[in-house]
Amino acid sequence: MIKIGVIGYGYWGPNIVRNFQGLEQGSVKAVCDLNPKNLARVRKSYPAIETTADSRDICAGPDIDAVAVITPVASHYPLVKSALEHGKHVFVEKPFTSSVAQAEELIGLAERKNLKIMVDHTFLFTGAVRKIKELLETDVLGTLYYYDSVRVNLGLFQNDVNVIWDLAAHDFAIMQHLIPNRPEALVATGAKHVNGIEDVAYITVYFSGNVIAHFNVNWLSPVKVRRTLIGGEKKMLVWNDLEPDEKIKVYDKGVTKADGDGVYELLVSYRMGDIWAPRLDQAEALNVETQYFIDCIEKDEKPFNDGAAGLKVVAMLEAADRSLANRGGMVAL
Ligand SMILES: NC(=O)c1ccc[n+]([C@@H]2O[C@H](COP(=O)([O-])OP(=O)(O)OC[C@H]3O[C@@H](n4cnc5c(N)ncnc54)[C@H](O)[C@@H]3O)[C@@H](O)[C@H]2O)c1
Repeated sequence: MIKIGVIGYGYWGPNIVRNFQGLEQGSVKAVCDLNPKNLARVRKSYPAIETTADSRDICAGPDIDAVAVITPVASHYPLVKSALEHGKHVFVEKPFTSSVAQAEELIGLAERKNLKIMVDHTFLFTGAVRKIKELLETDVLGTLYYYDSVRVNLGLFQNDVNVIWDLAAHDFAIMQHLIPNRPEALVATGAKHVNGIEDVAYITVYFSGNVIAHFNVNWLSPVKVRRTLIGGEKKMLVWNDLEPDEKIKVYDKGVTKADGDGVYELLVSYRMGDIWAPRLDQAEALNVETQYFIDCIEKDEKPFNDGAAGLKVVAMLEAADRSLANRGGMVAL
């Protein structure tokens, strides 16, 4: 049985506690939060779980094997560092850290102590992303052309991070998980309208192999949109994450090119085939992910969403900030 201590019981923390508590080989020993009202919520829902306002009780707790850090990003580095120094495995929210330097230091510390770091990029465990990965790996889509994502809604405005750190952190993790090509450069543009932090942004990422990705993230949208298009040579797909049933539709559509007789003639023929919606695993992503964390500890395996995967996302977020500051200057990755 792996005993977990959870730090942070705000909006996301209760989901983490519920999922770890529901596992056969895991149980939540204690929860920490600075806000006494949140600790009262824990005691009401889980009378057997200990509560504390002091994170040292969790990081140094003698009867705790792993620490889940579910607090805002600025506190990830000190809390994860303390947990690792006390010999605990770590499950930490996205984005992993506030900087590449912090992420590198924590990865080195975990390696020296032979401890696991798992970064909660929850989307990687959804049925939709697992299906898209399968479609790409089995070459159903063919050579990848582009990845195009829209993730917009009204709010929630954050005080400490811009819309890229808040929303594109998800997209960067998904894109890095799905696209095997190497990201080469990034361009980010955006604007601040409300609280001095970028609330609308557009990011383009150039990959090796002529793959291009584009992200539109926005806290000032009147409607919520979660739509990703992935175009391949053989097939294309649309992932609408707000769709209750058929989240992914695969289109047997595309173009083939044939040169005409004249120098300026290019003949493009269009393929208009079937559309199908693959069946997706309905399991709750966090349930799959928390189980995977326990398995990685018990079998001493490196998770694919480890500190190094979290670092790649932070590196892209930092690069986006540099490009934004330069009104869309190209930043090499
Ligand atoms: N994986 C996902 O899909 C997903 C979704 C939402 C949020 N998140 C991430 O979860 C993290 C928390 O987000 P949230 O929306 O729950 O924030 P929140 O502000 O609602 O909750 C954070 C909680 O942490 C507590 N806290 C802060 N610093 C602390 C400290 N040093 N010791 C003890 N408690 C402390 C606060 O009192 C608060 O209750 C963020 O990193 C966010 O990016 C991830």
